[in-house]
Amino acid sequence: MAPLLQAIDIGKTYPGGVVANNGVNLTVNAGEVHAVVGENGAGKSTLMKILFGIERPDRGTLLLDGKPVSFTNPREAIDAGIGMVFQHFSLVPSFSVYENVVLGSEPRSGVRFDRRQAIEAVRALRKVPSLRRSITAGRPTPCRPAAAR
Ligand SMILES: Nc1ncnc2c1ncn2[C@@H]1O[C@H](COP(=O)(O)OP(=O)(O)O)[C@@H](O)[C@H]1O
Ligand SMILES: [Mg+2]
Repeated sequence: MAPLLQAIDIGKTYPGGVVANNGVNLTVNAGEVHAVVGENGAGKSTLMKILFGIERPDRGTLLLDGKPVSFTNPREAIDAGIGMVFQHFSLVPSFSVYENVVLGSEPRSGVRFDRRQAIEAVRALRKVPSLRRSITAGRPTPCRPAAAR
């Protein structure tokens, strides 16, 4: 079986001339957890941005399930099943909790946002054991709880 994800000989030089990635290889098999470790400026975030379609590599190949992929934007990476949790993530302050959670993958009923389904989907997350703690004990966010609307 092909690895879930393979990055082969990835190279990225930013317009200013900084070589952020030079011949990077990464193989991830299903079920594995990897840590990419290195000092500040080593190019970790650049590699992740390439895997998520934020940056385009100058060279190299990305294989997903053994098939070449070339993401031009994060939407394409998300549609291929890749997610990214940013170091400095941001919320939309005027959105409620559930609106922030479903942002980008809003449930729809026809062309309209399906509010009821969105709230149900977020409630269902409480049943995921690994998420329970972060949902109930997470740092307070500036967004309004759904019940306050
Ligand atoms: N958008 C950018 N434009 C120019 N240089 C960048 C940009 N993003 C990162 N860099 C540079 O590329 C190098 C690698 O950065 P980065 O991938 O953020 O490293 P890390 O996440 O390992 O700290 C650094 O020298 C950084 O200053
Ligand atoms: Mg970084």
